Amino acid sequence: MFRTLSLAALLGFASLAPALYTDHGHHGVGHVHEVYTFPVNTSVENLAVRRTGQVLASIDPFCADPKPALVHEFEGYNSLLGIVEVEHDQFYVAAGNFSVFTLESVTGWWAIFHVDLSSFRTHENGSVKSAATVEKVADIREGELLNGLGIFSVEEGLIYAADSGSGIIYLVDVYTGDYWPAIQDPLTIKGAPLPSYPAANGVHYHAATQSVYFTNVAQEVFGRVPVSVNGSQAGAAEIIVQGSLYDDFWVDDAGNAIVAVYGNNNIIRVDVASGKSTVIAGNANSTELESVTAVAWGRTVRDRGSLYASRNGGVGSPKVVGGGIMRIDL
Ligand SMILES: *[C@@H]1O[C@H](CO)[C@@H](O)[C@H](O)[C@H]1NC(C)=O
Ligand SMILES: *[C@@H]1O[C@H](CO)[C@@H](O)[C@H](O)[C@H]1NC(C)=O
Ligand SMILES: *[C@@H]1O[C@H](CO)[C@@H](O)[C@H](O)[C@H]1NC(C)=O
Ligand SMILES: *[C@@H]1O[C@H](CO)[C@@H](O)[C@H](O)[C@H]1NC(C)=O
Ligand SMILES: *[C@@H]1O[C@H](CO)[C@@H](O)[C@H](O)[C@H]1NC(C)=O
Repeated sequence: MFRTLSLAALLGFASLAPALYTDHGHHGVGHVHEVYTFPVNTSVENLAVRRTGQVLASIDPFCADPKPALVHEFEGYNSLLGIVEVEHDQFYVAAGNFSVFTLESVTGWWAIFHVDLSSFRTHENGSVKSAATVEKVADIREGELLNGLGIFSVEEGLIYAADSGSGIIYLVDVYTGDYWPAIQDPLTIKGAPLPSYPAANGVHYHAATQSVYFTNVAQEVFGRVPVSVNGSQAGAAEIIVQGSLYDDFWVDDAGNAIVAVYGNNNIIRVDVASGKSTVIAGNANSTELESVTAVAWGRTVRDRGSLYASRNGGVGSPKVVGGGIMRIDL
């Protein structure tokens, strides 16, 4: 079964020969290329792109022997979910015990870890030349299922951590390890139409509107909630768009959100002002974005206009394909 939970670093667009990509052809607006596929039953839950171009993926290696560089195995934990970069090469991840097959998680066994990649180096064959430094920031004792992470303040080292069990969105001070509930709303907790599914999932602070955008899988909602200057909830949450299994997402200053729609195997662009959405990649009838979980933009000169997406691969479903990382040229 699940043995360890690992963080893997993948060579990004800047350092991979184009011939290594598998071209799946046009199915949506964006062209989807396979960067790397893990063995069947490996769930890739979230990703982040380093300034070097490398893609970091939080994976659950049901089948061992992933070829990419293994950054770290988190002993005692079987799942890594949210991942966020606060300062250059300083990443934070949510770790705990969760099963993508049963959706069960262990309350009281969730933590935030700091992964310092500033000294991390790999050989070309993926073996590690110089290790990352990893330390626990905080045990979130009340945590039921910590999922998405989002930055609130780089200066103060404050990140949001969405608890998909309780629906509470915590603020965590990554420098002191303090944490407190910042947001809990009828729209962030579990509820109809899928009450046994995870609640608050992706979470991103949007400074321009002083609000926090979030997805709630159980309620099939992508919404937003106003926050005060200290990051705590300042009013009722509202729905931007609903009716699909939205997972993690990205939102820009102009008010465009790019949302991974787990249940539809596609990625949509949402105008947050009107709630109007359009499919920009993927297709319900194709497995290239099977159970897509999160998105992140490329960060090097060569891939700045490309989007990376992680996929779970449909773990637990009859048509499971390997979890992986895809690149979408828009
Ligand atoms: C994947 O998981 C399913 C459900 O547990 C199992 O039936 C299947 O044999 C697994 N496949 C592989 C290749 O391990
Ligand atoms: C969490 O999972 C790991 C890996 O399977 C296991 O060693 C550990 O005992 C589990 N911890 C709890 C509290 O369930
Ligand atoms: C990978 O490359 C390094 C440096 O060339 C070498 O020392 C190491 O043995 C290689 N590892 C494998 C598994 O091939
Ligand atoms: C955040 O600010 C609000 C209103 O400004 C205040 O009521 C609340 O106590 C503050 N929360 C924390 C944790 O400081
Ligand atoms: C998926 O395939 C079905 C049956 O062939 C078709 O009716 C449907 O329009 C397709 N959906 C998409 C999004 O292409």
